[in-house]
Amino acid sequence: MGSHLTDALLAQGHQVRVFDSLESQVHGAEGGVPEYLNRDAELVRGSLTDAAAVRRALEDIDVVFHQAALVGVGQSMYDIARYCQVNTGGAGVLLEEVVKRRDRIRKVVVASSMSVYGEGAYRTTLGEVRFPRVRARDLLEHQQWEALDAETGEVLAPIPTPESKPLHPTSVYAITKRDHEELFLTVGYAYRMPTVALRYFNIYGERQALSNPYTGVAAIFSARVLNGQPPVIFEDGRQSRDFVHVSDVVRANLLALATERADYQALNVGTGRAVTVHQVADAILGALGACDVAPTVLGTFREGDVRHCYADIGLARTLLEYEPTVSFADGVGQLVAWVRQQRASDRFERAHHELVARGLA
Ligand code: UD1
Repeated sequence: MGSHLTDALLAQGHQVRVFDSLESQVHGAEGGVPEYLNRDAELVRGSLTDAAAVRRALEDIDVVFHQAALVGVGQSMYDIARYCQVNTGGAGVLLEEVVKRRDRIRKVVVASSMSVYGEGAYRTTLGEVRFPRVRARDLLEHQQWEALDAETGEVLAPIPTPESKPLHPTSVYAITKRDHEELFLTVGYAYRMPTVALRYFNIYGERQALSNPYTGVAAIFSARVLNGQPPVIFEDGRQSRDFVHVSDVVRANLLALATERADYQALNVGTGRAVTVHQVADAILGALGACDVAPTVLGTFREGDVRHCYADIGLARTLLEYEPTVSFADGVGQLVAWVRQQRASDRFERAHHELVARGLA
């Protein structure tokens, strides 16, 4: 995301300083500067937990897009202290340094995540809106995948999730993302420092870290298919997400910078459309010309996974005039065209074994 945003800001005539630790899990053990990083941007390497480094990186800066975080949802459930330190602790360090420069800083945009919701919004057959909690484990063990109504026991139907849905994060990672938006919006408001939180849905696209086994499903499936392996699907594959192309997320960030109307608010950034995990597998197999490969459907579940969550983008439409432009078919085409040129090692098995060994899948 950050490198795409960098390109877009430079194209608009801004000067850009990138502050990044270049995590080896994302960028590889060699620790080199990614070849796709725009050479017109200044790169400062450092950790968000290092206040002195953050302070130096903020010199002369007037807009902050805070995108950095450790993002492995499953990993966050056993690397708990590190996730809290780097994500929540790092947000605290950055915020403190930003506040010291509030006279100069005219906007802070902070990346949040749909994972703060937990399960998405649903309705009953009578049309009543429901916000179910995480699905009961004993039902999942009996392969009852759909969310059930706590009162009537009926299967609930997913509807677009609005920002007003109560937040029920189901992982340490998601808790740290809720921390992010609450910390930034609360402190930003107190100091009259215009701040916007963007709740990203499932971002996919070029430059995604293909060899990071803790990354999103589209990248994982692409890496596996390129390595001659079938995609591995949890549950039955009919669980759904809102897959938003990285270029649409970049535009939402630019719009948040350009208007005051979204200040001090958290907004969904998705497409408003649900795509099932099986459809993701089929789209990637199709685009990579591997239609003869059948995905492996495991029939087991990952701890904390939600069944359905896709965005109600009404607020972003109204306040940002945001409109997603990339269809899933086009976006997968772009992702796959890029993936073909990459050397992606498939580390799914290792990551999956770690989860199984800890009773998390
Ligand atoms: C993802 C991100 C999270 C981000 C959120 C919103 C990860 C791990 N999670 O959460 O950081 O905040 O989007 O942008 O990047 N699945 C399979 N097989 C696989 C991998 C996943 O079937 O090999 C399924 C999962 O069980 C789940 C769905 O695909 O049902 C999506 O999983 P994933 O891509 O990990 O994303 P989220 O957990 O939704």
